[in-house]
Amino acid sequence: PAPVPPPRCPSAIEFGQWEIETWYSSPFPQEYARLPKLFLCEFCLKYAKSRAVLMRHLDKCLWRHPPATEIYRCGDISVFEVDGNANKIYCQNLCLLAKLFLDHKTLYYDVEPFLFYVLTKNDSKGCHLVGYFSKEKHCQQKYNVSCIMTMPQYQRQGYGRFLIHFSYLLSKEEGQPGTPEKPLSDLGRVSYHAYWKSVILEYLYDHKDKPFTFEDVAHSTGMHMNDIAVTFQLLGFVRYIPNNETMKLGLCIDWNRVDNHVKKVRSKPRLEIDPECLRWTPLL
Ligand code: COA
Ligand code: NA
Repeated sequence: PAPVPPPRCPSAIEFGQWEIETWYSSPFPQEYARLPKLFLCEFCLKYAKSRAVLMRHLDKCLWRHPPATEIYRCGDISVFEVDGNANKIYCQNLCLLAKLFLDHKTLYYDVEPFLFYVLTKNDSKGCHLVGYFSKEKHCQQKYNVSCIMTMPQYQRQGYGRFLIHFSYLLSKEEGQPGTPEKPLSDLGRVSYHAYWKSVILEYLYDHKDKPFTFEDVAHSTGMHMNDIAVTFQLLGFVRYIPNNETMKLGLCIDWNRVDNHVKKVRSKPRLEIDPECLRWTPLL
């Protein structure tokens, strides 16, 4: 018989107006670790053992947005850049929250070397957490995302794609192609592959009849060369082509697929990023 999985702790959280089932356990401090449900402040992310304790907190808590500079605003969407060093507790709480939806081990307490890009949807009550990604401040391996998460109540609505696209926008501003840290979770892989394919298909659409190199693609998309090659393979555009007596690898682009993709995207608009709304300069 299959082993019985251990119960998730907590198995649910209350978060703003939402009651959310968790997917995995998260290492909250010992006094909280055995509780079936935790109660979180949706703005400062402080966690409480009961609704009564949370209510007392909410009476005093003045936070209505993440503790940081707003680096992007367009319509009711904002992105805040939170420094793990300057706002340690907030970032630790964000990581503990994210772990509830992540299968693999991730950092929770050692947040100082990271920046956290927090996406919110804003209304008269405040800036509501939609998702985030973290990024190492000084990364040798060219990772432009360490961890990425969309809150379950906002998933499958294009916010993950927005966050991924945003991470590449930052990479382009840095003049340095980037790639997400591995391993990717299953949902992470599905989302990245979907994003990469759409970016390459749209690049091809814009470069019909124009020669291009993978360097050009990297420069224009912020994508790492390896991921560009992987994506051409995923699209089935890399083929063995007869070459005299032997075969060589070549690109074989299905232009119908390119056109159909762009038609589809135009018929169902997505949450785009307006680069003009970004107020950000890279760390030196
Ligand atoms: N099933 C199938 N495809 C899915 C999917 C799912 N549950 N979730 C995302 N996708 C694919 C789809 O192709 C989707 O595009 P489409 O639905 O328009 O066709 C694309 O990924 C992006 O979806 P999007 O709505 O922009 O992403 P999201 O806001 O749902 O966020 C994650 C994606 C990965 C951030 C989110 O699933 C998440 O937080 N998961 C838990 C944490 C995690 O695993 N993070 C990644 C660590 S590497
Ligand atoms: Na991750």
